[in-house]
Amino acid sequence: MTSIPRTLSWQGGLPGRLRMIDQTKLPAEFLEIDCETVETVWEAIRSLRVRGAPAIGVSAAYGTIVGLQGREYADRAAFDARLAEVTDFLATSRPTAVNLFWALDRMKAVAASQPQLEPAAMLERLLDKARAIDVEDQEMCSAMGRHGASLLPKSGGVLTHCNAGGLATAGDGTALSVIFAAVAAGHDLRVFADETRPLLQGARLTAWECRQRNIAVTVICDSMAALVMREGKVQAVITGADRIAANGDAANKVGTYSVAVLADAHGIPFYVAAPSSTFDLSLPSGDGIPIEERDAAEITHGFGRQTVPEGADVWNPAFDVTPARLIKAIVTERGVISPVTEENVRAMLR
Ligand code: MRU
Repeated sequence: MTSIPRTLSWQGGLPGRLRMIDQTKLPAEFLEIDCETVETVWEAIRSLRVRGAPAIGVSAAYGTIVGLQGREYADRAAFDARLAEVTDFLATSRPTAVNLFWALDRMKAVAASQPQLEPAAMLERLLDKARAIDVEDQEMCSAMGRHGASLLPKSGGVLTHCNAGGLATAGDGTALSVIFAAVAAGHDLRVFADETRPLLQGARLTAWECRQRNIAVTVICDSMAALVMREGKVQAVITGADRIAANGDAANKVGTYSVAVLADAHGIPFYVAAPSSTFDLSLPSGDGIPIEERDAAEITHGFGRQTVPEGADVWNPAFDVTPARLIKAIVTERGVISPVTEENVRAMLR
């Protein structure tokens, strides 16, 4: 297997920088960028240079360090004020993936638990925490692969939407980690990658990852999902998630809900793979999940070409919510939640 480059990593110690693959350039160009200011980290998250719920969380943890380092602090109060400023700022980058807020809350909790520490020592502790969040995400990806692999068919097609692979995490991915683990265990699988309008994460990123790993992949337009299901080419569907409510309703890239409805109509199991950092038990159902709305230009001028006439209204929600009743199981790093009920979700995450 080709060695897979890391989606993001911390370079150096203190001071250091956040290195990431610029995913907006893939697959035509492989480019890594270094973020040395909190503004560049924010911009990278906002413009999807780094994207995917877990990767956004890990980036925010390292982004906190980027925003804190390289300054003189008169005392802990000054340090804490800057920490609040940096984390509040990063929290405005994207609204839907709860992993962003989960990671920022963990960073703030470390600082709050050691109020006596001097700024320099506190910054060291926070870098340790960011590194721990990074490593934990890698481990959660591997565990989801282990728990979920046996859900997939021994041979056949598996459809996925958007990109829930290594590019979306610090490790091997969520949904794709399950596929990678199944293939490693001998399953003979072909991935059907929805291209994923409007930003083509499936065509550009999922297909790229599958080719890096020598896994058979067929890219289809989103509108072809019903057809491949009716033709018997797909035996399972698995996607990631950006936020899962207490009852199991799962927000993921817009179009996921359609795929779940289609899978239900064709009697095909629909699975979600997500780490515990993607659950938001404060929300009783998916109705409360904030859905990001993005610039209309992503639809009207996708990849530099005008495809919509001036004056037409455009709606560009980046995510939709799949109701729990359409999800056969949720694969987490702790095990598989099935059937997807609030009781089972809470029991798994306890
Ligand atoms: O807008 P994106 O590309 O960040 O959306 C990503 C997704 O919807 C992924 O499926 C989700 O974050 C899970 S990633 C493991």
